[in-house]
Amino acid sequence: MRVRFFNPTRIVYGPGSLSQLPDQLPAGTPAEQILLISDAGLRRAGITQRAQELLPGAEVFEEVEPNPRHTTVDRAGGLARDLGARLVVGLGGGSVLDAAKAVALLASNPGSIEDYEGRERYTVPPLPVLAVPTTCGTGSEVTWVAVITHTGRRFKMSIKGPAMFPVAALVDPDLLASLPPALVASTGMDALVHAIEAYTVKPATFITDAFAVQAVRMSFLFLKRAWADIRNDHEARDGVMKSSLLAGLSFGNSDVGAVHCLSESVGALLDTPHGVANAVFLPFVMEFNLPAASGRYAELARAVGLEGGTPESLARRLIREIRELAGAIGIPEFQHLGIPEERFREIADKSFANNSNPSNVREASAEDYLGILERAQSESL
Ligand SMILES: [Fe+2]
Repeated sequence: MRVRFFNPTRIVYGPGSLSQLPDQLPAGTPAEQILLISDAGLRRAGITQRAQELLPGAEVFEEVEPNPRHTTVDRAGGLARDLGARLVVGLGGGSVLDAAKAVALLASNPGSIEDYEGRERYTVPPLPVLAVPTTCGTGSEVTWVAVITHTGRRFKMSIKGPAMFPVAALVDPDLLASLPPALVASTGMDALVHAIEAYTVKPATFITDAFAVQAVRMSFLFLKRAWADIRNDHEARDGVMKSSLLAGLSFGNSDVGAVHCLSESVGALLDTPHGVANAVFLPFVMEFNLPAASGRYAELARAVGLEGGTPESLARRLIREIRELAGAIGIPEFQHLGIPEERFREIADKSFANNSNPSNVREASAEDYLGILERAQSESL
């Protein structure tokens, strides 16, 4: 089998690396032609101001919401065109980074972002993007995809292409210091889901496996500690940031699977936070996947120090450990997501239609997704 791995993003990793932002600009980029994309939370945390000090004169758009909407991206795209922008800086979590990539596409191509759903639908390469993650779960700083919610269709569109990789990722674990515990939990679980899915989906390779195993190990080692005290525990926030980055490098060249198919469907319909939905669905999807993936799950179980038994019993222990971890860091039960039962069919159909569904290790029909939802509901009643 021929294996390919492609990632053109320059990565600068380390505490304080935000200060490298000016050094990463392509030579001769005028400040007034830089568009900085962020959100209100980053302004409250004082992080946007720090970036502005490093990029004096840059235009700022900070209206990106969680589960970013195509209408928001279109608005920011219009701003980028009016500005004659030459560079987009994304400073934020996954929603902001995905929006930044999509805005960079619209800056050099006409129309609405909905015209570009799918792979390489642009005709002119998007503007260069510098990505600065501020959560421990996106991985978007090193991937080629932007996931944008179409509000009319209530569907998460994937917009991707080789020219959409950020040119550089500045990954600074110190930016996590003010992240609230609930966001450490949800984004940290998102990174764990990225790694577990990247390791088990059909496109996984020995290269993506190496990143995924290390990401899973680091999540198990550090996520609970980071949740407890990310402000003071430097080692833990370094660990969860590395886990997130490695998981991104993994799924960017592998894929995600049924957990993301479900969480993206739920997120588009009900605006459920992405990481929370992922964390809730992970054990149920792993249980569903067992007939096809117990050997792979057992390998991950051994990587986090679990021993003995058959592959299936090890895989089940891993699932139990994940539930224990999620519970310990305050991830809610399925029932608290507030998903009305009458929407299950629609969620199952959208999950089946998700373009990562064919990658899932076990073939999953719309009926199977319905079964996973019903199982999750029956267990949490
Ligand atoms: Fe994700």
